[in-house]
Amino acid sequence: MDASVKKIPLTIGSHSYNIVIGSEILSTIDFSSVMLSPDKTGYVVSERVWGLYRDYISQVFSVKDAGDFIVMNDGEENKNYRYAEQFFEWLLGKGFTRKSMLVAIGGGVVGDFAGYCAALFMRGIPVVHVPTTLLAMVDSSIGGKVAVNISAGKNIVGVFYQPAMVLSDVRFLATLPDGELKNGITETVKHALIGESSLLAMMLNHDLKSIKERDTLEEIIYLSAGFKAGVVCEDEKESGRRAILNFGHTIGHAIESVMEYRGISHGEAVAIGLKGAMEISREMGFITREDVSVFDECARRYELLNSEHRFDPADVIDHMKYDKKNYGGRINFVLLKSLGVPQFDCEVPEDVLKHVLSGL
Ligand SMILES: NC(=O)c1ccc[n+]([C@@H]2O[C@H](COP(=O)([O-])OP(=O)(O)OC[C@H]3O[C@@H](n4cnc5c(N)ncnc54)[C@H](O)[C@@H]3O)[C@@H](O)[C@H]2O)c1
Repeated sequence: MDASVKKIPLTIGSHSYNIVIGSEILSTIDFSSVMLSPDKTGYVVSERVWGLYRDYISQVFSVKDAGDFIVMNDGEENKNYRYAEQFFEWLLGKGFTRKSMLVAIGGGVVGDFAGYCAALFMRGIPVVHVPTTLLAMVDSSIGGKVAVNISAGKNIVGVFYQPAMVLSDVRFLATLPDGELKNGITETVKHALIGESSLLAMMLNHDLKSIKERDTLEEIIYLSAGFKAGVVCEDEKESGRRAILNFGHTIGHAIESVMEYRGISHGEAVAIGLKGAMEISREMGFITREDVSVFDECARRYELLNSEHRFDPADVIDHMKYDKKNYGGRINFVLLKSLGVPQFDCEVPEDVLKHVLSGL
C-alpha cells in the first residue's frame, strides 16, 4: 500500500476493520481480508457518481459482469423499506447467497441503504463502504448505524451493522458541489469542537477554497474520521459517550423537521444547531464568549450559517420533545463544559432555550 495512504484501525467488540484514506486508492486495496473468494459481489452505486466515475469504478474493481452494478437513484426518498424489499428480490434473482458481499459507492444515502440491506440479507453479508461525499467519509460510513426511512420519520428502521472496510478515496470529492461539501464540513467542525483539537487548529487555518486541496482534505478526513471512530469503539450502541456526537443535532434535527426538510440542507440546520449549542453552553456558564467565537470563525470561513432561515422557537422546542433521541418529554442536550469537553444528557431550562433560539 502507498506510503501516503492513511489507515485507521477499529475494533468494535470482536469485529476489527480498517478505514483507509487516500487519493486514487481503490485499485490498491486487497479485499481478501473482507471475504475470501465471495461467490458474488454486488456494487450499489449512486446514479450521480456512476455518471461521473463509471470508467474509474469499472476499472478499479475489475468488474467483468456489468450486471453486478446496481445503479441507485440516491434521492433520500429512495432510502426506504419498499426499495429494500425490491433490492432483496433482485439479489436473490441474481443468485446472491450468504457467501456474497456488497460494496456501497456513494454518499450517506447509498451507504445507509446498502448497509441496511447487507445487514438483513441472509442474516448478514459483508459490506464495504466507498463513501463519495465528505459527510459520508467523516460521518455516515463510520460507526455502523444503518437505516431506512418510513413515512413516520427518517432513519426509524435500522440496526447497528459494522462494515468490513471503509475506503475513502478523496478523488471523488473533486466533483462534490459546495453545498454538499459544507454538509461534511459542518460535521467536521462538530468533531473539532467536541474533542479533536488538532482538527480545530486545521479548520481555523483553512477556508472553503483552501480546504479543497487533496492533501488538506486527506488530513482533515483522517482526523475527523479518526475522532468518530475512537468514540464509537468506546460505545458502539450509544448507551453513553457516543451521544456526544449529537452535539448541535438536537436543535438541527428539530429545525429540519419544522421546515419539513425543504429549503434547508442538513448541514445548514446542524450549523444553526451548533451555534445554538455553543450559546446554550455559554448561557449555562460553561464556556466563554471567546469559545463561542471559535465556532463563529469556522462558520465564517466555511460559510456555514445562512441568516435567511426563519423558524418559530416554540415550534422547534415542540419538535425537540418528539425527537427519537429524547424521552419522557425531556430534551437531552449535549453541551460543552469547555472547548473539547462535551457533556451529554444535560437538561436546559426552557427559558434559556427560548432565549437562545430566538437569537439564532
Ligand atoms: N449512518 C449514519 O451514522 C449517518 C450519519 C449522518 C447521516 N446519515 C445519512 O446520510 C445521508 C446523507 O448523506 P450525504 O450527505 O452523503 O448525502 P447523499 O448521499 O444524499 O449525497 C448528496 C448528493 O451528492 C451526490 N454525490 C455523491 N457523491 C458525489 C460526488 N463524488 N460528486 C458529485 N456528487 C456526488 C449524490 O448523488 C447526492 O445528490 C442521509 O440519508 C442521512 O440520514 C447517516
